[in-house]
Amino acid sequence: MKLLLLIGSCLLATSQASEWDYNAEGDNGPADWGKRFPKCNDTASSSRQSPINIVVDNTKYNASLPTPEFINYDVAHATSNLIISNNGHTVVVTPKYASSDSKAQIKYKGKTYELVQFHFHWGSDSKRGSEHTIDGKHFQVEVHFVHYNTDDFNNFNEAKTEEGGLLVYAQFLKSFASSANAGYQEIVPQFEKVKYKGNTTTIPHFKFDTLLSKVPDRIYSYPGSLTTPTCDESVSWIVNSQTVEISQDQMSKFLELKSNKGETNEDLVNNYRPVQKLQQRTVETNVPGSGVTITSSFSMMLMTVLPIAYAFF
Ligand SMILES: *[C@@H]1O[C@H](CO)[C@@H](O)[C@H](O)[C@H]1NC(C)=O
Ligand SMILES: *[C@@H]1O[C@H](CO)[C@@H](O)[C@H](O)[C@H]1NC(C)=O
Ligand SMILES: *[C@@H]1O[C@H](CO)[C@@H](O)[C@H](O)[C@H]1NC(C)=O
Ligand SMILES: [Zn+2]
Repeated sequence: MKLLLLIGSCLLATSQASEWDYNAEGDNGPADWGKRFPKCNDTASSSRQSPINIVVDNTKYNASLPTPEFINYDVAHATSNLIISNNGHTVVVTPKYASSDSKAQIKYKGKTYELVQFHFHWGSDSKRGSEHTIDGKHFQVEVHFVHYNTDDFNNFNEAKTEEGGLLVYAQFLKSFASSANAGYQEIVPQFEKVKYKGNTTTIPHFKFDTLLSKVPDRIYSYPGSLTTPTCDESVSWIVNSQTVEISQDQMSKFLELKSNKGETNEDLVNNYRPVQKLQQRTVETNVPGSGVTITSSFSMMLMTVLPIAYAFF
């Protein structure tokens, strides 16, 4: 009997420990994640939590920042499938490759990262939804393409807790277009089949580059973390500076999803973590004209120094 009670309370403790949500009002919301998941705390000066607000004027322009190289993002495998599932926090799309099919990858800064899944964060209106913000501004949807480093790790679970383990590529969406975005039309109409937590459906594989902006290599890049517990600081973040437009009809499909199994009518929405402290980090960019440029501040200095020099001599 005592043993049963013990097992019972252990189970209870485990299920409570795994609880987290996006509700600012309750006890499990983002401000409290750090209590149960210490890695989520962003107060140490060495911490590198995500998401962040990207202040464009403070980004460091680096012309030699390598551009991410997308591999097999332009291939549709007739033999592979995609599993779409609602896990109560988001909708996740997971490629299930046939053994002969080559997987989607990103090469960045000399390492190869393989796509494991992609998922969405979204808001109830156009003023919220994305996790990262640009100069304080949210977009309504942010898509995360989650990759792990196949050069240094055997699988995603090994990589996910380790520095250099993961690369997440973020794409912002906004709902301005009147016509449906063809890439997202492969997925969004399936949302009605995964309306409730625990629902899954399968669709044929398609070309993932149809989900990215036409300029996927104009980026912001910085070291960060997973944006959900356990908030491991293992992620190289690449945030696309360009947005993609979807239609209002497509956006409305996000807003019909539920975060539970139908017990309540609670919508799955506003599933974004607030921005975290930048601490000692710098955001690099290869977008010319944005942020601090070493050459331009040098020529500014020349402009200031030279007249004085001339006046002097
Ligand atoms: C985060 O860490 C700081 C410093 O150790 C502590 O004061 C604070 O309570 C922690 N926050 C949470 C939510 O655990
Ligand atoms: C620019 O990026 C390259 C490649 O990542 C890096 O080696 C170099 O140190 C960076 N330059 C500066 C000034 O940060
Ligand atoms: C989706 O999940 C709900 C709640 O668990 C369940 O009632 C329903 O049958 C599921 N739908 C499908 C298509 O599996
Ligand atoms: Zn995410």
